[in-house]
Amino acid sequence: MTTPTLSVEELRAAVERELPGVRADLERLARIPGIAFDGFDFTPLERSAEAVAELLRGCGLDTQIARIGDGHPAVIGVKPAPPGAPTVLLYAHHDVQPVGDLSLWESDPFEPVERDGRLYGRGCADDKAGVLAHVAALRAFGSGTADDRLPVGVVVFVEGEEEFGSASLPALLEAYKETLRSDVIVIADSGNWDIGVPALTTSLRGIVNMFVEVKVLKQAVHSGMAGGAVPDALMTLSRLLTTLHDDNGDVAVEGLVSTAAAPLDYPEDRFREETGLLEGVEFIGTGRIVERLWTKPSIAILGVDAPRTGEAPNAIVPTAKAKISIRLAPGDDRKRAYEIMKAHLEKHVSWGAHVEVTFEHDGDPIVIDATGPAYDAARAAFREAWDGTEPVDIGVGGSIPFIATFTEAFPGASVLVTGVEDPYAKAHGPNESLHLGEFAKVCLAEALLLRNVAAL
Ligand code: BES
Ligand code: MN
Repeated sequence: MTTPTLSVEELRAAVERELPGVRADLERLARIPGIAFDGFDFTPLERSAEAVAELLRGCGLDTQIARIGDGHPAVIGVKPAPPGAPTVLLYAHHDVQPVGDLSLWESDPFEPVERDGRLYGRGCADDKAGVLAHVAALRAFGSGTADDRLPVGVVVFVEGEEEFGSASLPALLEAYKETLRSDVIVIADSGNWDIGVPALTTSLRGIVNMFVEVKVLKQAVHSGMAGGAVPDALMTLSRLLTTLHDDNGDVAVEGLVSTAAAPLDYPEDRFREETGLLEGVEFIGTGRIVERLWTKPSIAILGVDAPRTGEAPNAIVPTAKAKISIRLAPGDDRKRAYEIMKAHLEKHVSWGAHVEVTFEHDGDPIVIDATGPAYDAARAAFREAWDGTEPVDIGVGGSIPFIATFTEAFPGASVLVTGVEDPYAKAHGPNESLHLGEFAKVCLAEALLLRNVAAL
């Protein structure tokens, strides 16, 4: 006879009890600048994988660091299910985005500090808080202690290169397929609808990142001597980039998928405020805001390689390169979209300039049919954790390539996309932060979710 698991009230108290330790561990993890982008020092990723592994071992999980080839370290921790109970896979990632221009941060990105109920630092939300939400739920049940009441089996999978496109993920899933087999998976890498309003994420866009390089000259030439008769690469590139949108700001590349979004209203004022869109600057695109963000494609230019303005000589620029990112609507296909984009760029370049398109990374979009007992269990947990507030089903415009890859490998599993982000988290930007009050609710919700799933 096994000891019964904790009651809802006991779990509330247990999460409350664990929060200070969880917060301290989150800060410790957030001090490690683990970035998987090419060109960065990867040794912090080793340390952050090791730190995550320690946290999982502390919860009594049989833990290993897993990697394929020159991929970055993932952490896998396993605790077998009690007889007859389901196994839940808990996903998060320990790598973070680069910090960008340091002068835009109000405090050191890798020295987490609390201001006005939020914890500021790169990764404090995306997605180290996701890692700690899993740890909090396990600790609340006393997982790994003498009084262990965890009612489900768990496999914790913490990826180390999510922010750089998860290149080795398909191979990792293949190699660890038996270890990762589970009935329900919880992906704590999205967020909630608003502060105080929980959400289940039921659709994510896909992504294709690529580079386009334009070449017009063998080398730079005097702009007075050649200007007027010889095109410059930067202007040629600019003309090409403007073919990607129509005058409304809708994507003008033919053949990408668009669909309709849920009947949710994203208040425009709120969105303007959250994104910091400057006064007088218009929104682009057509259709409801949630459609533009969740179920239509978008294209952004993320960076350009060209001479720096302060150093630019009076010379015609011979080559210029841009990084382009497309977000794909649910239903689209990343490989097809890349081919469409490549053909568009090659076709629309002006003046016979040489154009070369190269692939960076991609991920498929996903729509989740959020019906059935596991989803009801999640919604009930959210309602309880947010003191009766009904959760909403949302889409997000971001991407988590793991989901499509995982659901292809395990078509039968129920996928619950949760997370710690709120509309003010500023993930990927300067001054990223975690709302500590909402984080406490996310931790409780996850503990309640495991309890509910055990009873299915
Ligand atoms: N946590 C995000 C995904 C996300 C974004 C969820 C917005 C909810 C709202 C994730 O870490 C992320 O940023 N993913 C990358 C994936 C890419 C590198 C393949 C993204 O969307 O840019
Ligand atoms: Mn993330």
